[in-house]
Amino acid sequence: MDKLLDFDRLKESQVDNLLNTSFFLKGNFSRIKDKKPLSGKNILLLFLEPSTRTKTSFELACSALGANVIHVSQLDSSITKGETLENTLKTLGSYPIDALIIRDSKDDSAILANSIMKCPVINAGTGRKAHPTQSLSDMMTLIEKGVKLDELKICIVGDVQNSRVAPSTNFCFTKMHSEVAICAPRYFQPNDLDMNRFTSFASLNDALEFADVIMALRIQNERLQGHQIDLNDYVNNFRITKELLKKYSVKFLLHPGPVNENVEIEKGLIDSKISLISDQVENGFWVRASVLLNVLGGGI
Ligand code: CP
Repeated sequence: MDKLLDFDRLKESQVDNLLNTSFFLKGNFSRIKDKKPLSGKNILLLFLEPSTRTKTSFELACSALGANVIHVSQLDSSITKGETLENTLKTLGSYPIDALIIRDSKDDSAILANSIMKCPVINAGTGRKAHPTQSLSDMMTLIEKGVKLDELKICIVGDVQNSRVAPSTNFCFTKMHSEVAICAPRYFQPNDLDMNRFTSFASLNDALEFADVIMALRIQNERLQGHQIDLNDYVNNFRITKELLKKYSVKFLLHPGPVNENVEIEKGLIDSKISLISDQVENGFWVRASVLLNVLGGGI
C-alpha cells in the first residue's frame, strides 16, 4: 500500500492486512516500538481543521514508531496570509518529507495533495467524504468484541448529510460484507447519490429493530452554514437513549466523537456497558500505527 486516500480505493485484502497489522501491534507493541521501525522518517501533519483524536493518535503513533513529526495547522501557516492549499502543498513538497497526513474541510484535498506531493499521502478526514482511519478503528473495535463483519447489521443515525464518517462507514462495512442502513431526519438526508443506495429508515424505532450495532453521528454544526435544523425535533425523535437500546436488544453503540451529549446520545451513555466509544478512540492509535507502517514499509 503506497497511500491511503479513501476507503473506496482499497481492496478487501488490503483492509484485512491493515486490520491484522493493527491487532498484531496491539499484542506486541513493547517489542516493536523498541525497534523504532520509522526511525529517520519525517512525517508532516497538515491539519487544517480541528481534531483531538485523529491528530493525537497519529502523532503518538509516529513518535512511538520512531519518526520525526512536523506540524502545520491552519492558524500557524501562511494559509492565514492567503496562500492557497495548492501552493502550500507545493511549498511543503520541497522539503524532505516521507509522508503527509492531511485533514481538511474540502472533499478532494487528499487527492489534490496526492497529485502534488511526491511522498505518500494519508487521509485524516476530508470534507463530507472520507475518514478512512476512523472506519478502520470502528471495524477493529467490533471485531475485538467478537462481531463478525459479514453477519453484521449496522445502522448509522443522525447527520448523514454532513458527516465524513457516514460515507466511509458505508463503503468500508459494505466492502467487508456487512449490511448497512442509515436513519436520518429529512434535514440530514444525504445529497450524495452513492449514499442513497442504502436502506434508509425514517423512524428510529425501525432502525433499532433492524440493527445489531448503532453508530450515532455528531451533528456537524460547523458545516450547517446557516442551514436551520430543528434541534427539538432531533432530540425528540433521533436521540439514542439507554431505554431504546435495551428495548430493541441493540448489542453495541458506536460514535466517532466528539459527542454532543444529550443531543445525539443520552447523557451517561458514553460510559455505559453497551458503548464502545472509548474502544474506538483507543483503537484509533493501533490502526493509525498500522497505516503508517503499511504505507512507509517499516519492517516489524
Ligand atoms: N472522530 C474524529 O475524527 O475525531 P477528531 O475530530 O477529534 O479527530
